[in-house]
Order: sequence, then structure tokens, then C-alpha cells
Amino acid sequence: MHYFLYRGSELYCEDLPISRIAEEVKTPFYLYSHQTLTRHFRVFDEAFEDLPHLICFAVKANANLAILKLFAREGSGFDVVSGGELYRALRAGADPQKIVYAGVGKTPEEIRDALQAGILMFNVESPQELKAIEEVAASLGTQARVALRVNPDVDPQTHPYISTGLKKNKFGFDIRSALQEYRVARQLPHLEIVGIHIHIGSQIVEIAPFRDAFDRVISFIADLKREGIAIRYLDLGGGLGIPYKDEEPPTPKDLAQALSSVASSLDCTFVLEPGRVIVGNAGILVTRVLYHKSTPEKHFLIVDAGMNDLIRPSLYGSYHGIQPVIRKGDKGDSQPSSIIADVVGPICESGDFLAKDRRLPEAAPGELLAVMTAGAYGFTMSSNYNARPRVAEVLVKGSEYRVIRQRETYADLVRGEKIPEW
Ligand code: LLP
Repeated sequence: MHYFLYRGSELYCEDLPISRIAEEVKTPFYLYSHQTLTRHFRVFDEAFEDLPHLICFAVKANANLAILKLFAREGSGFDVVSGGELYRALRAGADPQKIVYAGVGKTPEEIRDALQAGILMFNVESPQELKAIEEVAASLGTQARVALRVNPDVDPQTHPYISTGLKKNKFGFDIRSALQEYRVARQLPHLEIVGIHIHIGSQIVEIAPFRDAFDRVISFIADLKREGIAIRYLDLGGGLGIPYKDEEPPTPKDLAQALSSVASSLDCTFVLEPGRVIVGNAGILVTRVLYHKSTPEKHFLIVDAGMNDLIRPSLYGSYHGIQPVIRKGDKGDSQPSSIIADVVGPICESGDFLAKDRRLPEAAPGELLAVMTAGAYGFTMSSNYNARPRVAEVLVKGSEYRVIRQRETYADLVRGEKIPEW
């Protein structure tokens, strides 16, 4: 459910024709719908209303300050994985008491900043990290709240690059040795054990891997209890998938039901770290066709957005729907002819594509295309490759829009660079 819909032949974002924004902002740009973002957050939150819970939006999915602010106003906390994400969340007005901090490579400086900010807890990923947090907390004369991220060894049946809960992955403590690590953590005077964390992967479209992981972590919590270690926060991570094409993922309600059927008697707060499911289809990438080129083999639509702007198709082979912003064939026009084309960007790599062998209405130079479902891991994974300034981000609310991140300039590209005098 989202608010990018055609009115007649024109694709709108809420009450605004996208072509009008494109005229003013130029292309390419990311475009987000306020109403979609709000709705998704609320639907997710309401799904868990019968359980004590805290939603910590995964900042890595979309880190724009305006969007983080919108979620903070809705009562969201944040899952961060770097000092930079912590900074962003705090800048957006996050309540530090609702921030959880994961990631396998936290530096002492990052740990210090998070402790000083007073975050809810660190999701700790290794024995050495436990010691590092202990040392920083000791140096500050404070106690650090920690959860151990355990790796439940379930297969989320998603792309290998984004599955994280298998024992061959780099994340967390192996569930078979985690009890011993909790015993160690308990001995460290500047640590307070408050929770346990799992996150098994992303774009998961079946409920079974979640159920398996819940079962394993709940039986592990019983083991901890027998040792006298009480868990106040059970952090279940993110991972719920969304339809990019024809997937039919479980709903937030399905996830909540799977959880409450096994965990409602646990005396703890459930932390959830959704990213993609909240922002994924609340954002699109708007791009303009530059050229149409045909070879004996193929048609290519060359557009002004490339893999540096949206890397998911190149990196994971991900599918993103592509729709014309102005549709032909309405108002009794003859049906537009279609072509099968690769939609490619200007980057000097064959891997630079947004779609392969896609049937699309013929699009002439200057026409606008909407690359759908690009609100998660779109802008946040963009880069300056080929010295391309990163694109603008725009937020629509009703019939108004605001540029929430300016397009970078060439001067931005070289900011901070210095040529040595020799
Ligand atoms: N919590 C932790 C600890 C995570 O590592 C992640 C995502 C999330 C929560 C949020 O997961 P979500 O609800 O969005 O599935 N760049 C990839 C996705 C990488 C996900 C990394 N971790 C992509 O574009 O598909």
C-alpha cells in the first residue's frame, strides 16, 4: 500500500504530479511520500499493540533527517550501526533511551559517544567487543547496558549477501557458546546485561525462518533464566520482506502473531528493528530518459540515474518496477508500443543497470521514469562513483513538497580534498 498512483495519465505522489516536481528539482531524485511513511510505521506499531514493544527503525535503510524526525515524532526509537548513524538519529531528535546500537566493528570512540549519549543498549557481537565496552564504560565511570547478539543458525532463504543468521555469517555469538559469553559478561563490573538480540537477515518473505529463530531464542532465554540471568529486552531485529515484484511476504500482523504465540508470557519488552518494510515502497527514484539506443542484440534505455544512485539491481540482482511518469494510451490514444530493453545508467560499467530485459512502453528522450520501491537502501547506499554528485531527496505531504536533501554540487565532490604542496 502506497501513495504513488496514477490520476489519468499522470503518476502522482499523494496530491502532486511527479512531473511538476521533476521540472523544479531536476532529475534524478528520490521522492518519498509522508503519508505512506506514516501509515507504514503505524501499521507496524499497531500490529504489536498487544505486546510490550519498542520499534527501533533501522537507520541504515533510510537515514535522511526529515524521515528520522517523522518516525521520532511517531514515537519510534532507532537501530544504529555506526557513530554516524547515532549522530543522525540524535540530530533528528531521537530519544537516546530508545536507541540500540549493533554492528561488528564498533570503535572505542563510537562506544564512548554512545555511552555519553545514554543509549538504551549495545547489541554486542563478539567477546572482544564485550571487553572493549567494559573498558570504555570503566574509563567513564559508568555502566553500559548490553544485549548479546546471538546467531540462531536459521536460513532466512534470502539473498546470501543479506542473510545474517547462519553460523557461517560474521554476526553475533554462536548460540551454542553464547551461554558461556553471558557468564563472562556477568562478571564484568561495568556491564549490565539487559537483553538479547537476533537479526537473521533481510527481505525475508516467509514466516518460517522467523518462527524458527523465535523458538531458538526463547529456549535460550529459558537457559539464561536458569543461570539467574534475566532478560528485559528481547530484540528481534528486522528483516520483514516487501513485494518488489510478485512476492507475498507475511504482514507485520503475521509476525506479531508468530511472536505472541510463543512469547507472550515472557516478562520483557520486545524490540523490533524494521527498516525496509517501513520505508521501501514509500520511496521512488525519478529519472529521465537520455537516449534510446538499439544494437542488433538489444534495446537500451539510457537514463540519467545509475548504479551509484541505486545499486541494488547491480549488487543483488534486485528487481525494481519501472513505470512511466506520464502514461500513454489513456484518453483513447492507441495503445503505446512496448519494447524489451535494459534500463541502464551513465556509469562506465556493464554492471550499471536498473533493469534487464524489461518490457516497457517505448520512452523517448526526455520522458520520466519512476523506479519503484526504492525508499529502502536506495539513497543510503548511493555513492559518488564516476564523480557523480548524489541526487536530491524530496518529501511530499499532501499537495506540498520539500527538498529534504539538496542535490550535491561539483564543489561538494571535492570538499575536504587537498593537493600536497609537493
Ligand atoms: N537490524 C539489523 C541488525 C540489521 O542488520 C538490519 C539490516 C535491520 C535491522 C533492518 O533490516 P530490514 O528490516 O530492513 O530488512 N542493503 C540490503 C539490505 C541489508 C540489510 C542489512 N541489515 C538491500 O538493499 O537489500
